[in-house]
Amino acid sequence: MGTTITTERIAGACGAVVHGIDLARDPDDAEIAHIRRALLDHGVVVLRDQCLDPDQQVTFSHRLGPPSPVPFVQSIPGNPEVIAVVREATEAHGYTFGGLWHSDFSFLPEPPSASILHALEVPPYGGDTIWASQTLAYARLSPGMQSMLAGLRGVHSAVNAYSPRMQAVHDTFAGMAVRTDDSANETRVHPVVRAHGETGQPALFVNAQYTIGLHGFAPHEAKPLLDFLFAHSTRTDFTCRWQWRVGDLAIWDNRAVQHMAMADFTGHRRAMHRTTVAGEAPLAYAA
Ligand code: SIN
Repeated sequence: MGTTITTERIAGACGAVVHGIDLARDPDDAEIAHIRRALLDHGVVVLRDQCLDPDQQVTFSHRLGPPSPVPFVQSIPGNPEVIAVVREATEAHGYTFGGLWHSDFSFLPEPPSASILHALEVPPYGGDTIWASQTLAYARLSPGMQSMLAGLRGVHSAVNAYSPRMQAVHDTFAGMAVRTDDSANETRVHPVVRAHGETGQPALFVNAQYTIGLHGFAPHEAKPLLDFLFAHSTRTDFTCRWQWRVGDLAIWDNRAVQHMAMADFTGHRRAMHRTTVAGEAPLAYAA
């Protein structure tokens, strides 16, 4: 008889642990369907006690979809689809990769649908990841604000993370290799409220790391509205928070949540492998 698969919520807003699946044992279609359903229902899914080498993580990632482009961040040797998200114990700058609220690579024309992060080494404390439900954030806006946002488009760019002027900053990070270039200055316009590609549910799609303006707005007009949306969309009651153990593997839906990593583990090493699943061009939500 097979192991029972269960899903256990970890917070009121988003996030669940799926028990009973060993990803190293080539999950069958029903197990993958269970993970996909949980991801759509909860935005974030964690599987504990997994032991995947990079090739196995890529194989699992492909069960969720083809790989997304991964710009700027160097992949691990021999496996172009895997990036190592590492902060060394010697790094004392109080920054960690992904440390500002963001939806992964939202500056791409087709931002990733999902990201998969596998914990290889974790600090004794700190280094949690926090996700915020953007479907809930949208739902909690007043009807007046919802209708004001309809039709608005955010301007997304990697300029504040990966433009060449940021190379000196990346060079101080011992654990990761990032190669900045001028393509980071490009901008991309996406709807402020997107319809999820599978569920059709509306979700806010702006984030403090990559959304640098509102299309058709002067900067001084866009800033107050974006500042409100950044604060609202990351309200604590829209979040779940995960304290990592070695072997944890988290999957999140970048179309439904945004996330950040806590940089509060100076003096300790944290090492993860990430794979990234391709997504679609965000479609505007029509109420
Ligand atoms: C990321 O933004 O992909 C990294 C998140 C984390 O390290 O917790």
